Amino acid sequence: MRVVILGPPGAGKGTQAELLSKELGVPKLSMGDILRKAVKEKTPLGEEAQRYMKEGKLVPDELILKLLEEKIEKVAEDAGFVLDGFPRNLRQAQILNNFLESRGKNLDWAIYLKVGEEEIVNRLRHRLICSKCGKVYRKDEIKQDRICEECGSQLAKRKDDDPHTIKERIKVYFEHTFPLVKYYQKKGILKEVEGEGKEEEVYERIRKALNLSQPLT
Ligand code: AP5
Repeated sequence: MRVVILGPPGAGKGTQAELLSKELGVPKLSMGDILRKAVKEKTPLGEEAQRYMKEGKLVPDELILKLLEEKIEKVAEDAGFVLDGFPRNLRQAQILNNFLESRGKNLDWAIYLKVGEEEIVNRLRHRLICSKCGKVYRKDEIKQDRICEECGSQLAKRKDDDPHTIKERIKVYFEHTFPLVKYYQKKGILKEVEGEGKEEEVYERIRKALNLSQPLT
């Protein structure tokens, strides 16, 4: 199954993409993670992307495509994928569409996680990520020591999770990404899912929307 997950910043795209890719047994590709890795490694593309990311703007398409090139080629060969953070505007959606079509494939579903602005801001204010492996946490679920349970590294706030940048990211989302909801609706592959509530409740709604028959164990 080939799925993209859409939604505003902090909607839980990464959280849900992780669960879905595990259950479907297909790779998850997170554009945000790819970009943060490039920034951390100080590659030329990463250095350039950082200028946009720290302001909450979209990274230019050409740069995104260069970063995605090899990875998307590889996952397109697989039985399926879950994409988080790509596409992010109409041009990227058309590029993805043409890319799959030229390989005789198609996107099965676009899941739109619907979350209100108050909840978004609250989630992002309370998010911590591992500085090494990128695992995502909520402040209320971690112990005092702020250490990653996977790799033992220090947890920190994401650089773009400050109030000013969050505001800009939400604005950019509505301007550039939200139109994709209509785009996929027209194609008849949109699944709108209520994104508020506990993580496992949201995931159950996704499973139901995609007709994944087995109950979650
Ligand atoms: P990206 O990393 O994709 O950021 P985003 O879209 O703003 O989304 P987030 O990662 O902030 O949130 P999420 O929806 O994944 O939520 P999460 O699961 O973490 O992109 C970062 C930047 O890179 C962009 O601003 C842009 O500059 C650039 N970029 C990326 N892709 C691009 C592209 N294609 N083109 C151009 N530029 C691009 O959850 C958030 C928090 O809430 C966590 O703490 C989590 O534990 C918690 N949480 C999750 N679910 C729940 C729940 N149900 N209840 C309570 N808490 C929850």
